Amino acid sequence: MSVNRRFFVIGNWKMNVNQARIQEIVKRMKNSSLNPSTEVVVGCPSCYLSYARQQLPFHIGVAAQNCYKVSYGNVSGEISPAMIQDCGCDWVILGHPERRTIFCESDQFIREKVAHAQLAGMKVVACVCENLEDRQAQRTEEVLFAQMKALAGSISDWSRVVVAFEALWASGTGVLATPAEVQEVLSKLRLWLRENVSQQVANTTRIIYAGSVSSANCQELARLLDLDGFLVGSAALKQDIVDIINARGSQVTESQVSRLERVSHTMM
Ligand code: PGA
Repeated sequence: MSVNRRFFVIGNWKMNVNQARIQEIVKRMKNSSLNPSTEVVVGCPSCYLSYARQQLPFHIGVAAQNCYKVSYGNVSGEISPAMIQDCGCDWVILGHPERRTIFCESDQFIREKVAHAQLAGMKVVACVCENLEDRQAQRTEEVLFAQMKALAGSISDWSRVVVAFEALWASGTGVLATPAEVQEVLSKLRLWLRENVSQQVANTTRIIYAGSVSSANCQELARLLDLDGFLVGSAALKQDIVDIINARGSQVTESQVSRLERVSHTMM
């Protein structure tokens, strides 16, 4: 937790919305009081990017859930950063665990996509993940650091990147990661940034957590020293998202908020 890193919540709708569902979620977000010190983004299916952008207030960002590594061409079924921007959106999620597992996306491929997205001026939520076998075999550092290394090689502007750590073993499994387990991994990722990129990048890059975040566990997690927000899946479709956006409470003062807004404007 740091006032230099604006709390960041991205609700990833995955493949679970249509126009009617988007309208419902937008209505809920518009009718709720959302902590203005939290930066809020939604991860939207590509066919609804323009629709979501039109429905949502401007201060809520819209992210594509994936993109390809070139601007245009004969690549059926893919979309490019240029197309996402043409839909009025400036964020993209890359390396999501579902892309890594279901579509077998390699570190190298994700690295190329992150590099192109950065070059195109997109803001990127770059995901790293750990599965149950890795955790049981105590390979957490090895697998996460390998993914970080691949990502870092493609990042030219860290101020436009949010790193998301997903504990796959705690996503939809009924097993919850404890705050101590989450803090341990996030602090290792920050240390990795310090030792392999720079002190400044380690201090300013937002590192967020994913893995069954809900109304029930968000407040306790939000107090963790190295946690700067959440990537939220199933709870993003429910009322929970409001609690998660507000999980940091109102301990940030008004002057800190305006400072955060200034910092995030100069960063983005
Ligand atoms: P979950 O999903 O919050 O449902 O665990 C997170 C994600 O995979 O984006």
